[in-house]
Amino acid sequence: MKVVIGSDHAGVEYKKGLKEFLKERGYEVEDAGPDNEESVDYPDYAEKVARTVAGGKADYGVLVCGTGIGMSMASGKIKGIRAAVIHNEFTGRAAKEHNNANLVCVGARVLELETAKTCLAAFFDAEFDGNKPDGERHKRRVDKIMDLE
Ligand code: RB5
Repeated sequence: MKVVIGSDHAGVEYKKGLKEFLKERGYEVEDAGPDNEESVDYPDYAEKVARTVAGGKADYGVLVCGTGIGMSMASGKIKGIRAAVIHNEFTGRAAKEHNNANLVCVGARVLELETAKTCLAAFFDAEFDGNKPDGERHKRRVDKIMDLE
């Protein structure tokens, strides 16, 4: 499985920790940048990561900014992207089980790095309920989201 990860200046150091964590889990990880803390505009990196996922060049995207909010707003504009801000184990799991997110965002200024790792583990270990025998309603709801594009 391939994961593409990106951030803005607020998440550069944090991203390094998440990258190691994802690699330890056995995923191939592509870093879309940036690699230093010079101020950048988060939509530029959100677009880069989102287009990589939407174009099928990675299975999932992870984005880090101060809050996760700007990254989710920007990446969710790209066709095919279902972006979710996650902030604990429950939201990490639900983002996959209920929403079939293909991109998750975390806030480096609001979450301890260890909590973010827990969020990501819950997300990647979960499966979309819409693919399960009694999960038709979840598939219908996510299909409705995609129909909004
Ligand atoms: C950058 O200062 C900050 O606005 C950004 O990291 C993020 O929190 C935006 O949503």
